[in-house]
Amino acid sequence: MKITLNFVNLKQKSSFGRSLTTFFFIGDKKMITLSNGHKFEYMVASGGLGFFGKGAWRGEYFLRWLGLIDPSLFTIVAKTVTFERRKGNYRWWWPSGCIRFLNWDGDDSRFGFFSCEGVVNAYGLTNPGYEWWENWCWIQSFFQKRISLIASVFSDSERAPQEIYQMVKSLSDWFRTEIVGIEINGSCPNSQGDILTTSRKIIEICEAAKRASKHPLLLKLSVVQNVDEILPRVNGLVEAISINSVPWREIFPDAKSPLARLGGGGISGKSAQDWTWDFVRKLKDKTDIPVIGPSVWDYDDIEKLRKIGADAISFGSVSTKYPWRPTSYVKRDMKERAEMTLP
Ligand SMILES: Cc1cc2nc3c(=O)[nH]c(=O)nc-3n(C[C@H](O)[C@H](O)[C@H](O)COP(=O)(O)O)c2cc1C
Repeated sequence: MKITLNFVNLKQKSSFGRSLTTFFFIGDKKMITLSNGHKFEYMVASGGLGFFGKGAWRGEYFLRWLGLIDPSLFTIVAKTVTFERRKGNYRWWWPSGCIRFLNWDGDDSRFGFFSCEGVVNAYGLTNPGYEWWENWCWIQSFFQKRISLIASVFSDSERAPQEIYQMVKSLSDWFRTEIVGIEINGSCPNSQGDILTTSRKIIEICEAAKRASKHPLLLKLSVVQNVDEILPRVNGLVEAISINSVPWREIFPDAKSPLARLGGGGISGKSAQDWTWDFVRKLKDKTDIPVIGPSVWDYDDIEKLRKIGADAISFGSVSTKYPWRPTSYVKRDMKERAEMTLP
């Protein structure tokens, strides 16, 4: 089998002179290499496979057992944790209370599972706190096959830089080496704080995280944030950028969200593509930091994202309707790429 390895870009990303962040084409396929050497082309976005990369709900454990979900194909971002336990809006006895499926037809009949092309969620970062996550992650590492896991942390409190510093520092302890990176969720659409409107806060959080971290950092941004202010200041601090769901009011400024009582929620999936993919183009235009492209819903979306410049592909809300699609798409993509490079 012939694999064409085209060197595309090589940049020093670490101010401490650690190894270099690079991104390559293999054939026409791009991938991101973090400063610790971890490489990935396919990512599962935070929330896609739960807190530990095994599945967000029991049915997914079964699909994993059947081989329809294969976590080993992805680098998986864990569900976001906060400094303290957070109640959020998710209730195990009524999961659909904070997530709804939606169509892209712009009228009131847009909600329905079978014809949906995206979701709106106002999960609100329900989680038991970062210490719980760390401890369980450590215990589970003895019993499960190795998963390439990225931790995800968030804070919108007054003490956000201090909280992020402490969480990242703890995740960087020498005995917690299982994770391959830390994603700073700088853009939860369901946060009550000012994180979406205050660039200064994001920059301070990234600076604090960089001081505390021995892991590569990723930053998750929203299409509504001011990237002209943020990007120049986080260059050299974070090694890749991922993209969050789009606040409801941004896509439907005149329509009432079914989750209005929870603040409106964030839209993901096909319904968000026009916004998230424009954001990929904008980021590629303005920065050299590798960009992870979201909102894959159909197989063709992978190639479309590559064409607009995404350096890696992320699977998020598609798993809520089709949990098996990311695995089947990645297997098909790998197979087709391999066939294309055969002599
Ligand atoms: C049910 C659900 C839960 C999510 N939870 C989180 C989360 O805890 N942290 C986070 O950063 N993003 C979370 N997200 C956002 C996704 O990670 C992803 O960024 C977003 O859905 C956009 O990607 P997509 O269009 O490919 O779905 C969640 C999304 C959904 C649908």
